[in-house]
Amino acid sequence: MLQTFNEKNRDLIVNINGKLVHRDQAGISPFDSAVQGGDAVWEGLRLYNGRVFKLTEHLDRLRSSALALAFSRIPTHAEITEQIRRTLEANRMRDGVHIRLTLTRGVKITSGMDPRLNQAGPTLIVLAEHKAPVYDAALGSHGLSLITSSVRRFPPDCLDPKIHHCNLIQSILAKIEANNAGADDAIMLDKHGFLAETNATHVFIVSGEGEPVLLTSRLVACPEGITRATVLELCRTHAIAHEVRDISMTEVYRARECFTTGTMGELAWVGKVDGRPIGNGRCGPITERLGRLYQELTSTSGEQLVP
Ligand SMILES: Cc1ncc(COP(=O)(O)O)c(C=O)c1O
Repeated sequence: MLQTFNEKNRDLIVNINGKLVHRDQAGISPFDSAVQGGDAVWEGLRLYNGRVFKLTEHLDRLRSSALALAFSRIPTHAEITEQIRRTLEANRMRDGVHIRLTLTRGVKITSGMDPRLNQAGPTLIVLAEHKAPVYDAALGSHGLSLITSSVRRFPPDCLDPKIHHCNLIQSILAKIEANNAGADDAIMLDKHGFLAETNATHVFIVSGEGEPVLLTSRLVACPEGITRATVLELCRTHAIAHEVRDISMTEVYRARECFTTGTMGELAWVGKVDGRPIGNGRCGPITERLGRLYQELTSTSGEQLVP
């Protein structure tokens, strides 16, 4: 699964601390904390018909991540929302758009890791791109193919995944393994060998034995996924049996169905894990139903930012 350049993004206008600039002219200081130490938090959001889906949830997660990193000033939800709106208007965007928000600790007075060197306030970057759900092109009739990575996800006592920070190296190492194996993405385990998530998404399976029950991992070694929470909410609303618990790879291999969730790629069904077909090798009924329910939600809810 390799994303390609979209001509519609050639002349994007990006927003850095309120300044709207052409993508080729945009830059941040070499003294910025994101450059110096990956000292930044981020969110990926999606725009559907002028509405940002789960905007408040994303801004809440950005704020709580920045609080956990002790940023001295965090822009309010209203301030960030206004910058998103200006960026969308500048690009005349209203649908099929992915928005990457980055909030860094800001520019330092000299290079170094010490947060006391930050005396200028944070840097807010709003990058909006025309981008269809990223896995659509890869799905076809085979679904996604995943492998299990040798790279483990940190538990909270190493680096708490509840901080949605910009150090993506763990994920990138796992993605390199997936690329080298010709797979779309890589499953990552926690320190105890249970399923954590993939390098970019959360994982759900439909149990292979007994009555079908939708299972997903506890929030121990994966971020507080907004799409994950939305799927669990859909299960509660529509009386779909579900459980949140530790899952071993044996349970994944013998699952009836498997799918991944994330804002960037929505719900994407998995056809193979470590070369083994999942279920009957086709998109299963629970995955299909939840995918439809999710699309209904994205097309009818969200915060209207542009007409
Ligand atoms: C590591 C990781 N896992 C999963 C997700 C999916 O989370 P969400 O559903 O909130 O987009 C993300 C998205 O940012 C992520 O960075």
